[in-house]
Amino acid sequence: MSKEMKINAAKEAINFVKDGMKLGLGTGSTVDEFLILLSKEIKNGLSICGVPTSKKTRDLSNKLSIPLTTLESVKTLDLTIDGADEIDNDLSLIKGGGGALLREKIIAFNSDELLIIADESKLVDKLGDFKLPIEISPYEHEVTSLRIMNKLNKIGYEGTIGLRKDNKNIFITDGGNYIYDLSVGLISEPNIIEQTLNLIPGVFENGLFIDLTKKVIIGGQEGTRIISK
Ligand code: A5P
Repeated sequence: MSKEMKINAAKEAINFVKDGMKLGLGTGSTVDEFLILLSKEIKNGLSICGVPTSKKTRDLSNKLSIPLTTLESVKTLDLTIDGADEIDNDLSLIKGGGGALLREKIIAFNSDELLIIADESKLVDKLGDFKLPIEISPYEHEVTSLRIMNKLNKIGYEGTIGLRKDNKNIFITDGGNYIYDLSVGLISEPNIIEQTLNLIPGVFENGLFIDLTKKVIIGGQEGTRIISK
């Protein structure tokens, strides 16, 4: 979607950042716009420190002179700003299109608040049109992917699963893992899918973010609106 919508959402998110905050910094093109605006605020005197969810966000933050720290140093975060691939009416999300889902979930879980910024195209009635990313150990990963389909078939979901590639090479996450993208049609029970996936050895995390956010900023052509629950 248009860069303008992403910038609009990012601008609104800046209003939620207060002096002295410890911030989780998400990953993706919408977050990149937020980082650009955040660096301007820092140049104007705002004092924050950020924990990045990916090497990409870390590198851009360094380039923009955004002070960074680690979760280990600060233990908890006040606010995390991140994007999403799909957002449903309950504010459940699919994330991981950029492959950063494991670190994004760790950061979101350790943050007092997760604020999602996205353009209108990310809003859906039901999750699942976007393939669900699953981060998997490279060890015997094909068997893990078979097990995933097995378990899902048993609870009534049919579909396909595919190893994510980066051109011809296997896509490798920042943590050195693989991503499988799962398509099982529209997901009526995200909780059950999440629990089923995370009980399978070899699965590190999946891209379903349920009950992790209470606020989403949607950027449109004309401006923004906030959806809260
Ligand atoms: C990264 O792994 C994802 O979870 C992103 O947050 C998501 O893909 C949104 O990215 P965009 O802002 O680029 O759409």
